[in-house]
Amino acid sequence: MSNKPIGIFDSGIGGTSIFKEINALLPNENIIYLADSKNAPYGNKSAEDILQLSIKNTEYLLKKGSKIIVVACNTATTNAIDFLRENYNTPFIGIEPAIKPAALNTETKVIGILATKGTLSSQLFYKTSSLHTNGIKVIEQIGEGIVPLIETGKLESEEMQALLETYLKPMLDQNIDYLVLGCTHYPYLIPMLVKMLPKHIKIIDSGRAVAKQTQAILNSNNLLNSEVRKPEVNLYTNGNLEILNTIVENKFNTAYLDF
Ligand code: DGL
Repeated sequence: MSNKPIGIFDSGIGGTSIFKEINALLPNENIIYLADSKNAPYGNKSAEDILQLSIKNTEYLLKKGSKIIVVACNTATTNAIDFLRENYNTPFIGIEPAIKPAALNTETKVIGILATKGTLSSQLFYKTSSLHTNGIKVIEQIGEGIVPLIETGKLESEEMQALLETYLKPMLDQNIDYLVLGCTHYPYLIPMLVKMLPKHIKIIDSGRAVAKQTQAILNSNNLLNSEVRKPEVNLYTNGNLEILNTIVENKFNTAYLDF
């Protein structure tokens, strides 16, 4: 079982930010990544639709023999992970906005969070946020339109710059010192955000933590791959292959797949 792949899925190419962390930390692991770009964005869909898409991706990854599934999507995690854990006999790793470290470390007592509508309106987010943000002002901002721009290859565009300026303004006006990126597409915005934000504002995402958690769960289940041959790492998209290749800098095996 330990030489079976780690299955990873996202609504599109954003979860490759998590895939890269996992591949860097666990270079010996076989990996299958699914970018469900055909159905992106998930963020504006109903909770039921997000659940059904998460089930579809999970079943495909299980059919391919995945030993663990990483839901590399905040929107899918916050809307579907409880169901997936209850209904499939496989370990699941999810990703949620890193509200806790921001809330623990903020000095201005004001933090900003940028995430999808689906994440910000989920019960799981509400629960996590209320648990950790007592006495702290949380400025929630839906990143409407960001994912479609990334999915169509317009990451560093004027449209993106304009959207980010609009979304950051209320946060800057209210003196945030932490910006939490609550969507796996958003780490790709970091170079732009660094240029736009005053230096004292810290940007945090959960990518590294998810990779470490994946390693810990594989380890405790005796599932770390011990085979010595070169691992197979494959990324599949049901959308635009060229855009997937660009985001992973043509460094991995990729293919179009209608899943
Ligand atoms: N990458 C996703 C997330 O982490 C989903 C974005 C979307 O499809 O709206 O939330």
